[in-house]
Amino acid sequence: MRVLALESSCDESAVAVYDDAAGLLSHEIHSQVDLHRVYGGVVPELASRDHVRRLLPLLKTALADANTAPGQIDGVAYTAGPGLIGALLTGAALGRSLAYAWNVPAIAVHHLEGHLLAPLLEPDPPPFPHLALLVSGGHTMLIDVAAPSSYVVLGETRDDAAGEAFDKSAKLLGLPYPGGPELATLAARGRADRFDFPRPMLDRPGLEFSFSGLKTAVSLTVKECAKAGAIDDATRADIAAGVQQAIVDTLIGKTLRAIEQTGYETLVVAGGVGANRSLRERLAEGARRAGARVYYPRIEFCTDNAAMIAVAGMARLKAGKVESNAIRARATWLLSELGPLTELST
Ligand code: KG4
Ligand code: ZN
Repeated sequence: MRVLALESSCDESAVAVYDDAAGLLSHEIHSQVDLHRVYGGVVPELASRDHVRRLLPLLKTALADANTAPGQIDGVAYTAGPGLIGALLTGAALGRSLAYAWNVPAIAVHHLEGHLLAPLLEPDPPPFPHLALLVSGGHTMLIDVAAPSSYVVLGETRDDAAGEAFDKSAKLLGLPYPGGPELATLAARGRADRFDFPRPMLDRPGLEFSFSGLKTAVSLTVKECAKAGAIDDATRADIAAGVQQAIVDTLIGKTLRAIEQTGYETLVVAGGVGANRSLRERLAEGARRAGARVYYPRIEFCTDNAAMIAVAGMARLKAGKVESNAIRARATWLLSELGPLTELST
């Protein structure tokens, strides 16, 4: 079976073709970073308009690269939420229309399920059940993953997501959007022990996170350093290193606690912040000591892409979880609303 997948939930337009026997056949992506950079963040209306411009050319290239004709496609998957509603609707409308024209099922995919299943694209995929740390721009969650589509959220952030903490701190340091990777690059040149930033909730029991206090602490530190006339490059790098260390310490502390509580020996790290090198290195070490093995998607599949939507779409197609003729997109959509999948016998 072969699935065409579209991703347009935020600021990446992406298309992929995936075959259940041969694996990923092609994936195309256009990042809107240059479009939004001048505004310091994503402008939803501009994002939607750009998806409309980009998706069809990407689709043509993805089909050609996969050496696939429309008649070979068995289903069209698209990200139906959560995300920016206008951006989601562009992919949903295109996906639903193509499915109608090609007379195949349309499959509405939950964006976070895409992130969670992205490691299945790797040659050595994680076994189920497992624990997942999902760290993206909008979400920070520890999830008990019994099987694809069976998710129980064990803990999540009460306010900002880890990616947001990276992005907002980066903005306070005057770094361009998207701030997370920029802050990580700056942090590599800094000393993490010069500034002591809070590790929110780490000293409290449970698996909840909170990152909004961190941004206040960074704002105060930047102001104090500026007042003392000491906001030079080395200081900015030290602040970046301190912030990164505080975020990573918090994520690792709670994740190791969840490993202990669940007894799972498999940990999946998914979402954009999973591309952070410091998190990857330190988590691999911490999990190893706790007797668990960590699985990541390759770096390019940590951030938004259509390959992960294709994998999630294929699992749903095989279970017969397909859409009516309605175009469905949802700005908010809880993971817990997805039910377990039972593969249909054909
Ligand atoms: O999963 P993703 O691409 O989009 C969402 O679904 O939100 O995650 C984007 C987030 C942004 O906050 C971005 O700054 C962060 O992931 N990010 C990073 C790194 N690469 C992306 N944060 C820290 N270090 C990185 N290397
Ligand atoms: Zn994402």
